[in-house]
Amino acid sequence: MQNMFNKAIWEPPFIQPHKIGEINKFGRRAAKDNICDTVFGVPVKLLVEKYGSPVFVTSEKQIRENVRRVKRAFERRYGNVIHGWSYKTNYTSAICNIMHQEGSWAEVVSEFEYEKARLLGVPGERIIFNGPNKSKAILERAIAEGARIHVDHLEELHTIESIAIARGSVVPVTLRLNFDTGYTEPWSRFGFNIESGQAYLAAKLVALSPHLKLTGLHSHIGTFILEPRAYAEQVRIMCKFMRELEGNENIQIESLDIGGGFPSNNALKGVYLPPEQSIPAISDYVNAVTSALMEGTQYRRESNRPLPQLIFESGRAMVDDAQMLLTSVVGTKRLADGRRACVLDGGANLLFTSYWYNHLIKLTSEIDGPVEETVLYGPLCMNIDVVRHSIHLPPLKHGDILAVHCVGAYNNTQWMQFIEYRPNVVLVHEDGESSIIRKAEDLSVMTQQDCLPSHLQIPFLDIGRNGRINKIASVGQIEAVS
Ligand SMILES: Cc1ncc(COP(=O)(O)O)c(C=O)c1O
Repeated sequence: MQNMFNKAIWEPPFIQPHKIGEINKFGRRAAKDNICDTVFGVPVKLLVEKYGSPVFVTSEKQIRENVRRVKRAFERRYGNVIHGWSYKTNYTSAICNIMHQEGSWAEVVSEFEYEKARLLGVPGERIIFNGPNKSKAILERAIAEGARIHVDHLEELHTIESIAIARGSVVPVTLRLNFDTGYTEPWSRFGFNIESGQAYLAAKLVALSPHLKLTGLHSHIGTFILEPRAYAEQVRIMCKFMRELEGNENIQIESLDIGGGFPSNNALKGVYLPPEQSIPAISDYVNAVTSALMEGTQYRRESNRPLPQLIFESGRAMVDDAQMLLTSVVGTKRLADGRRACVLDGGANLLFTSYWYNHLIKLTSEIDGPVEETVLYGPLCMNIDVVRHSIHLPPLKHGDILAVHCVGAYNNTQWMQFIEYRPNVVLVHEDGESSIIRKAEDLSVMTQQDCLPSHLQIPFLDIGRNGRINKIASVGQIEAVS
């Protein structure tokens, strides 16, 4: 390590105990061998010089390739398929518009997301409106604009009916369902439960209302689902329910929405095998869904009736590997137990997903020195701000840059603004040019929502000679009380 005068800094000698499992007879593949000096084709140094550190770097090419690959896989096996881009995964405007240019609709879950999709120019008929908290005002707008409303609970159903009565029109609705596939923890807090009979009751209420029409069924069985058979079971249960409704209630379901949940190439904490071995191919999921769908809709084909439209709302699988975070070392230290530690300028504030993932973290330049177990901390004054509890790295120094891979999903939406400005988000265009798609925050952004009542516009009060506090009369003016 060197100081500002390029002189070696003295470090006290340290005995490194070798832990079982750290080195085997083949040696350990050092992180040093694994250098990533360009990101999506652009040199890391250039990106950091131009856009600062930390910086999120996104690949337009990768997003387009991901969406096309998954859509093509579905379309090869089932003709009528729509992808609803799950805004909550990453609602940076440029990323949403890449998805929309690829033909994806908007899948939104709140008033804000609905308004954002409309602001970007997405027509109401291409918006799927999920979520448990839709105000009457936003429902009125979404219904008037032709959005697909996915109902979460009975109160919402009643509100929609009251809007339909006021409009004098019949409003089509989709019911969100939940049930146990036997493969994942059921998310029973969203939508209507099939096993308890709640879902059937809700469908019956819709069928009985002259103001509502049940046209779709939806479910989202969870996220980062490692078992394609969960989807086969999901579709089987949804088709069985659809058939039951169509047989008993004079209902014709036009669309089945299977939600999202396909995994990305990230390494989930607690999963022993690396992602290359633990994550099934997307085609396995597509085959599971479409095979179950063909089987479950056989009764329709037999009676020459059209097959339902298939909607999927994949989020993380579409975008996670299309974004990296470049983050720099701002300090290094030895912890009391002897482990090496580094403080980075990007931490849990930017990488919410570091709570669940061991992201692939690579060096961006060659670094000499022995590889050691290292803890990577973020910049927050918060003990839980740990990017990685244990990673083997050579001795990093101030200014070294690390590339954190697969950060495109849920970080640009769940990041937190705690004591730091959020950094630039950059897009590498298909032609290799780059530009900012979300500007770094600054003081004006951080304070623009604050309101200061007039008596609080000066931070310090003037204490008079008599020891009494002077009163503030107006901004910048202090008037003695006595
Ligand atoms: C209703 C709904 N659809 C789609 C998604 C996207 O899920 P994923 O990113 O796991 O594909 C979510 C995420 O939780 C969701 O709640």
